Amino acid sequence: MSVPAFGLGTFRLKDDVVIASVKNAIELGYRTIDTAQIYENEAEVGQAIKESGVAREDIYITDNMGAEKVIPSLKESLAKLGTDYVDLTLIHWPSPNNAVSLEETMNALLEAKKMGLTREIGVSNFTVALMQQAIDAVGAENIATNQIEVSPYLQNRYVTDWAKEHGIHITSYMTLAYGKVLQDEVIGRIAAKHQASPVQVSLAWAMELGYSVIPSSTKRENLKNNLKATALKLDAEDMAAIATLERNERIADPEGLAPQWNN
Ligand SMILES: NC(=O)c1ccc[n+]([C@@H]2O[C@H](COP(=O)([O-])OP(=O)(O)OC[C@H]3O[C@@H](n4cnc5c(N)ncnc54)[C@H](OP(=O)(O)O)[C@@H]3O)[C@@H](O)[C@H]2O)c1
Repeated sequence: MSVPAFGLGTFRLKDDVVIASVKNAIELGYRTIDTAQIYENEAEVGQAIKESGVAREDIYITDNMGAEKVIPSLKESLAKLGTDYVDLTLIHWPSPNNAVSLEETMNALLEAKKMGLTREIGVSNFTVALMQQAIDAVGAENIATNQIEVSPYLQNRYVTDWAKEHGIHITSYMTLAYGKVLQDEVIGRIAAKHQASPVQVSLAWAMELGYSVIPSSTKRENLKNNLKATALKLDAEDMAAIATLERNERIADPEGLAPQWNN
């Protein structure tokens, strides 16, 4: 697997908050950072990486971008991030009604990879039908991941099973259901059993299923605790108990951007 199993999310984090979060995370040992054009924090993420003193080649940067004008737009992002390349470029949301053809976008991404602007390419918020179209355009071997919402409350099995069958790696975003898992009784019981926290249990659950995770936090203590999820191993009983928590509860569903999820 090329996409690292554990990284840092930066959605909603801006200005000094994102700079502090990224710098704290890198100091604590994080080496993977997920940003996006629409988060309007690429420049600050780039600044924090530079100021961390860790060499660029030791950091894995994922950038999420729009489907339009892929190459010029990626070049703009690289300038903001202050780097010559990103490690992974994702199409953040499929173009509504295929206004920009998916085939064209995927081929432009592949071209960007050939130009060395990005080491790998992938997609985000892609349904089964859209993953099939992306595979038809550039082949599954060129799609490093599909980054989608997966949490104990939205396990998304239809999409994840299909992706697994077709060789597409899953990155889970909002694995903590934006903090809601902290209150969950079943997860709390499993956490107590392992002397871990509910957040660590949720992250370990997703990694046990083979997904990458990118939790975000504005607090150094939380960043530190979250990273410890990489050392937590859940057993079959824990995994079976969390499987029962599915309730198809989606958080990220922006009007005008979200695809028809059940396709
Ligand atoms: N591709 C896409 O369309 C897409 C969509 C959404 C998100 N994403 C990516 O996925 C990342 C993760 O999603 P997210 O940031 O929305 O949600 P999340 O990681 O599920 O949850 C973040 C929330 O959990 C809290 N939290 C984190 N660690 C905690 C801990 N140890 N104890 C208590 N609270 C804790 C944070 O608060 P504190 O700051 O107080 O710790 C924050 O409120 C994003 O940052 C973004 O990079 C991608």
